[in-house]
Amino acid sequence: MEFPFDINQLFSERICFLDQTFAAENGQSAARSDLQAHIVTVIDELGRASAKAQQLTAPITSASKLQSQFHQLYLLKDGESNRGHGVVVGFLKVGYKKLFLLDRRGVHIEAEPLCVLDFYIAENLQRHGCGLDLFDFMLQHKNLEPELMAYDRPSHKFLSFLAKHYCLIHSVPQVNNFVVFEGFFLNKTAVP
Ligand code: ACO
Repeated sequence: MEFPFDINQLFSERICFLDQTFAAENGQSAARSDLQAHIVTVIDELGRASAKAQQLTAPITSASKLQSQFHQLYLLKDGESNRGHGVVVGFLKVGYKKLFLLDRRGVHIEAEPLCVLDFYIAENLQRHGCGLDLFDFMLQHKNLEPELMAYDRPSHKFLSFLAKHYCLIHSVPQVNNFVVFEGFFLNKTAVP
């Protein structure tokens, strides 16, 4: 995904972590308003592309949503493409959600896991391992195992991705849109 400004000036690392301040933890400060505006453009464009890819009626990721909902975003770039100006390859959005879930026995469990809320790799770069790079980076950054996370309405591509890379195959049926896998409920106690 190309932009009419220098992606490398906005994001210094190949994978950047952005919180609601848009300040990349490991990269540039977004204090300058022109940089802030460009970051907003990138996030909004990514959100639109992801919604289109998932055939959603409206984006679930935008700069304003990121600010108000306290979600966190990992952004992957290819700094060498576009004559050295860089391109944005994709993103992964995570956030904590309080959920009421059912374990294998149908017992209600209240939990506030880290959830994958949105995930997108540019069409021409899918199935090249970019999604895996982003996901692995997030797991290391959060020091988390994938079976301890919840997945918000995962697409069939994402379910296939989780099965292939993390052997997450057996989900535990829920009554909401979230998918959790066996292993999620270890050490979790029932709602009294
Ligand atoms: N059809 C089926 N499975 C796919 C496809 C596809 N077109 N693309 C990727 N996958 C899965 C497969 O398991 C694939 O392995 P395979 O090629 O051996 O079959 C594996 O992902 C490849 O892994 P990566 O290359 O690391 O994944 P990629 O860079 O393609 O990123 C992602 C995966 C993010 C799901 C990407 O395909 C994508 O953006 N899809 C469109 C948007 C989408 O569905 N996002 C998930 C929304 S749900 C949510 O965020 C909670």
